[in-house]
Amino acid sequence: MSKVLHVGLIGAGRIGQVHAATIAYRVSNAQLAAVTDALPSAAQAVAAKFRVPQIAVDYSAILADPSIDAVLICTPTDTHAEIIIAAAHAGKHIFCEKPVALNLKDTDAAIQAAERAGVKLQVGFNRRFDANYARVRKAVADGEIGTPQIIHIISRDPAPPPIEYIKTSGGIFLDMAIHDWDMARFLIGGEIDEAYAQGGVMVDPAIGAAGDIDTHVTLLRFANGAIGTVDNSRKAVYGYDQRVEVFGSQGCIHTENNYPNNSVLSTADSVRRDLPLHFFMQRYVDAFAAEIEAFVDAIAGDHPAPVDGHDGRMALVVGLAAQKSYMERRPVKISEIG
Ligand SMILES: NC(=O)c1ccc[n+]([C@@H]2O[C@H](COP(=O)([O-])OP(=O)(O)OC[C@H]3O[C@@H](n4cnc5c(N)ncnc54)[C@H](O)[C@@H]3O)[C@@H](O)[C@H]2O)c1
Repeated sequence: MSKVLHVGLIGAGRIGQVHAATIAYRVSNAQLAAVTDALPSAAQAVAAKFRVPQIAVDYSAILADPSIDAVLICTPTDTHAEIIIAAAHAGKHIFCEKPVALNLKDTDAAIQAAERAGVKLQVGFNRRFDANYARVRKAVADGEIGTPQIIHIISRDPAPPPIEYIKTSGGIFLDMAIHDWDMARFLIGGEIDEAYAQGGVMVDPAIGAAGDIDTHVTLLRFANGAIGTVDNSRKAVYGYDQRVEVFGSQGCIHTENNYPNNSVLSTADSVRRDLPLHFFMQRYVDAFAAEIEAFVDAIAGDHPAPVDGHDGRMALVVGLAAQKSYMERRPVKISEIG
């Protein structure tokens, strides 16, 4: 591998642009060598903004380029497995956005392809790299709150994505909540045993017409006996709402939202502050940088990726259990999924 990691960006949409900015401005030992997108204008815009020297016609051109060490897969979810498998065969290290795929067959095939090729596969669970959540994990791991008994995860978006995105996303349990299943496993430090979901269409009937729901609360039971909730809405009018609380036998730790400033305005009528950071591009900018730095470091130091294919698989399994629970209106054991 060359001293500076040469990276190919596949998919230059919302998250692709976030990662392009990270590599361009935040990671010193990596550079974007090529970009491709099914929409040539999207690839051109990223290439111009971040001075990427090459615009590839498609991802196979990136994979055929021997000077490229690693790829960032930022295309729609239903394309991930195919591109992971092709990238593994080409010997490229792989960072893939969440989720790996929308079913276990494709997920397993992708994980196996990376393992057989001996390349790194890191999944884009960026929240593990957020300073708030890392501190919660440390409190649990170090026993600062004793034995964890209850976890609450609140994860609400400021606005739904376009309906076209919803249609290929896999639905709220596999697309949006996938971060929260991973957070639950990460923060508790153990596996989930059972999921029981209640949900509905409360934000936009068009989401229902596209076959999805936009709101749910899912009750989780962990193998170690802890219980928890994940609360998702596609629309919080006050902005991105990202909070957790873990309660244990010796105490409790919780996080608040992050704000663009910490000013509090007090008048005769009210005490108030500005809205939280609006969405993931603002809220998790440091976490996105840290996850890409960790990916680059894992390759440079040849150590395991910090969030691997198994983590991607387990989050999918919980999502499938929650989805089944919602459809069948009953608690679903993780063992029913596989
Ligand atoms: N980690 C996070 O917080 C986070 C946030 C948003 C999205 N995501 C994930 O990232 C992925 C992309 O989401 P997005 O919001 O950026 O979507 P998007 O629609 O904004 O961007 C996807 C881009 O991929 C391009 N594309 C489609 N097929 C392609 C192909 N075969 N080759 C090359 N380019 C192709 C599209 O033209 C589009 O520009 C999804 O899997 C999503 O779940 C993760």
